[in-house]
Amino acid sequence: MATLTENPLRVGLNQERIPDPCILVQFGASGDLAARKLIPAYYRLFVQRRLPPEFTLVGVARRDWSHEVYRDKMRAALEEFAPQDLGPEALWQDFASRLFYCRLDIGEAEGYLRLKQLLGQLDEERGTRGNRVFYLAVAPDFYAQAIQQLGAAGMLADPTKTRVVIEKPFGHDLTSAQELNRIVQRICQEEQVYRIDHYLGKETVQNLLVFRFANAIFEPLWNRNYIDHVQITVAETVGVEDRAGYYDAAGALRDMVQNHLMQIYCLTAMEPPVSLRSDGVRNEKTKVLQATRLADTRNVAAAAVRAQYGPGWIGGKPVPGYRQEPNVNPNSQTPTYVALKLECDTWRWQGVPFYLRTGKRLAKKVSEVAIYFKQVPLSLFPSAAREVSPNILVLRIQPNEGISLRFEAKMPGPEIRTRSVEMDFRYGTAFGSTTPDAYERLLLDCLLGDPTLFTRADEVEAAWRVVTPVLSAWEAQPGGNGSSVAPPLYTYEAGTWGPKAAEDLLAQSGRRWRRL
Ligand code: BG6
Repeated sequence: MATLTENPLRVGLNQERIPDPCILVQFGASGDLAARKLIPAYYRLFVQRRLPPEFTLVGVARRDWSHEVYRDKMRAALEEFAPQDLGPEALWQDFASRLFYCRLDIGEAEGYLRLKQLLGQLDEERGTRGNRVFYLAVAPDFYAQAIQQLGAAGMLADPTKTRVVIEKPFGHDLTSAQELNRIVQRICQEEQVYRIDHYLGKETVQNLLVFRFANAIFEPLWNRNYIDHVQITVAETVGVEDRAGYYDAAGALRDMVQNHLMQIYCLTAMEPPVSLRSDGVRNEKTKVLQATRLADTRNVAAAAVRAQYGPGWIGGKPVPGYRQEPNVNPNSQTPTYVALKLECDTWRWQGVPFYLRTGKRLAKKVSEVAIYFKQVPLSLFPSAAREVSPNILVLRIQPNEGISLRFEAKMPGPEIRTRSVEMDFRYGTAFGSTTPDAYERLLLDCLLGDPTLFTRADEVEAAWRVVTPVLSAWEAQPGGNGSSVAPPLYTYEAGTWGPKAAEDLLAQSGRRWRRL
């Protein structure tokens, strides 16, 4: 039997190593992301002994906290957001002894000097050898300033010892992303920069790579000869929550599509990478984005739908409409739902539409990729349904993580009649264990210096290049930008599947969204 050819470059995406000693500097230490996601992730990594013994965490924020107050706040965050992980008191005490705090105003140089001094002192006391990760979990408007100040204070000078993690959104359109990249690249080498998109830390998103490239039977079908179209859905039941300050200026296209949906799209559409080294995967993702465009570039309304949720019902309870949410402008034009029809101009995908949709306050929380295969060329058998269904391969990202394949089967009985049935693989049943949180995975990769699951400068710009024409059309003032009428902003009832216009987007070509 032929043996499997191993790629000698097959590294990356693996993590059985323990990172080198280092200090993680958490900007935005008093913020929501730190409390909900980051502290629980650091703590779980610590409990699993995946962090080096010297690991040290320095929280940075504007509040006038002492080290002790910071420790108490982080303990409270764990009690609120990850109580099941706390474990014995001695464990927490051990973790807390690694926590320090530095008050800093992002725009003021003085705070950075204090920070530098504290880091130097901790290096001496804790043996962290000058290795640092600066994690910017602050409002996006502050990224440039924080990096410039860190640079001016000489804290990013050594690219072998310092890294910067930047949260999404990276810019608010193509021009601002390019500008931010220019600032970052004046101060850092690209290999120091970790642009984070937590969807890439999800097991099932990574499984897209494994499913496609560790199995021989799907790849020959993964192209325009066999695939009719692809649907990518990321639906949420939550509303804007208490994030109106950020969300009302961002909206669904910036908040979800430019990053999370584009990443899922890339992993679905990309060519096999030469290796799993960081640039192997990132090169292929970038190529896909460079070949991608809105299906109708001259008429945005024909290929992009935006909508905002009105009042409705979620889980049997009434919920307010978006404009009635706390701190939302009562005349807000911000979309909470987006559906797009994209085309990828490559030999593999020419003519295969990719439909993407995402929204808040939809009927169900569900994220998935559905690959619709072409119909059989000639129907020989009568079907129980009016028409024979196509084969559909569904990669379920969350919840009920798994993969299913729908195909036709003969219904029992003397006649030959067919009906659609499903083969189903479930992560939970097959592997039994709970999947690690996306942030845990990404934080560990960053500490290990593996950028595979982070977004490169050209990739982030390529993703903006796809969505910016839509933003420009939506945000154009009537009469400006050559357009007389901006595409409509539809309303949908909370707890439904979005506006009818999104159905029409597919109905134009005789297709429809999967019922979930
Ligand atoms: C964040 C968005 O990046 O992702 C939120 O800012 C969204 O608006 C969240 O709710 C969804 O993440 P997840 O992991 O719950 O699907």
